Amino acid sequence: MNIAGTPTRSIRPLPDRSGVEIIDQTRLPHALVFRTLRTLEAAAEAIQTMQVRGAPLIGATAAYGLALALAEAASEAHIDAACARLAATRPTAVNLRWALERMRARLLSLPAEARRAAAWAEAAAICDEDVAINEAIARHGLALIRDRYAATGRTLNLMTHCNAGWLATVDWGTALAPIYAAHDAGVPVHVWVSETRPRNQGAALTAWELASHGVPHTVIADNAAGHLMRQGQVDMVLVGADRVAVNGDVANKIGTYLKALAAHDNGIPFYVAVPGPTIDWRLADGAGIPIEARDASEVTHIRGLAEDGRLLDVRLAPAASPAANPAFDVTPARLITGLITERGVCPASRAGLRALYPEHTDG
Ligand code: MRU
Repeated sequence: MNIAGTPTRSIRPLPDRSGVEIIDQTRLPHALVFRTLRTLEAAAEAIQTMQVRGAPLIGATAAYGLALALAEAASEAHIDAACARLAATRPTAVNLRWALERMRARLLSLPAEARRAAAWAEAAAICDEDVAINEAIARHGLALIRDRYAATGRTLNLMTHCNAGWLATVDWGTALAPIYAAHDAGVPVHVWVSETRPRNQGAALTAWELASHGVPHTVIADNAAGHLMRQGQVDMVLVGADRVAVNGDVANKIGTYLKALAAHDNGIPFYVAVPGPTIDWRLADGAGIPIEARDASEVTHIRGLAEDGRLLDVRLAPAASPAANPAFDVTPARLITGLITERGVCPASRAGLRALYPEHTDG
């Protein structure tokens, strides 16, 4: 996507392989700050503190984190220790495990002296593949949006949750990719952006992305979604995924399940954009998906820009009140109209996924 007219990926290796440049997403939408990660620890911390976030970008950052780790040593023991550090950063998005397993297998197939160059090449391949996957998701999702537009003949009101845009991937995004494609193709769309408490990825990141690309949108409180659906103001819901089980159950940002319930009750199509690396072929259903529990302070406090330009954290809840912060939920397959993958759209079911990915016989 373009930043001030310049095509920019969310993660970019430095040409001399001394580091990887990222956008510090904790500073958006108030400041666009680039940061260079130069060590394994810096990469792990960037994932843990959500300077980079979103399932595909977490995987890509971990891949580069491993490449950075090889500057010190390239033994199997060193690679395993680096993988363990990176794998422990965030539990829910399976892209992290997928990227690390792919990197490890590639590196251990080579003699130690060839591993450093191979790590940078493999991480770059993961990034390039992510972009190609998202372009394909954009095409398949665009066809769905076009069909819906043909049926209504007026501006389509789409709804999304969290941020599944280019910031969450290497480029284009997953759920937002078809929306960008529709907008660019001249299909009139308007996007309801749910703020996504507690970290507000919708209000901060999705709104910033859509505004930068000129896509008409409106930020809403999460709690407004059901009301808008009942009022007939939502034509389609499009969300991303952090882990999809073999039966089509989907883990995504907390609050996704409530939107799926409301969409189901109102007969509104509810689609999940799913890159292949987000499917966990080892998990039979969503019950086994690990749900990240984040710090209670994300619920009890909120960050915003003060009038004087300072970023401030302010308390919302009484100091004596405990808070819980599950960061993801699982939407059962029965509430999902379809999964938009890079290989096409399929029902959220074992048969649907198997038909598109016949090479996966496990799970
Ligand atoms: O906690 P986050 O911001 O990493 O959660 C991100 C999401 O839930 C996204 O919807 C998901 O990763 C899909 S990103 C293309």
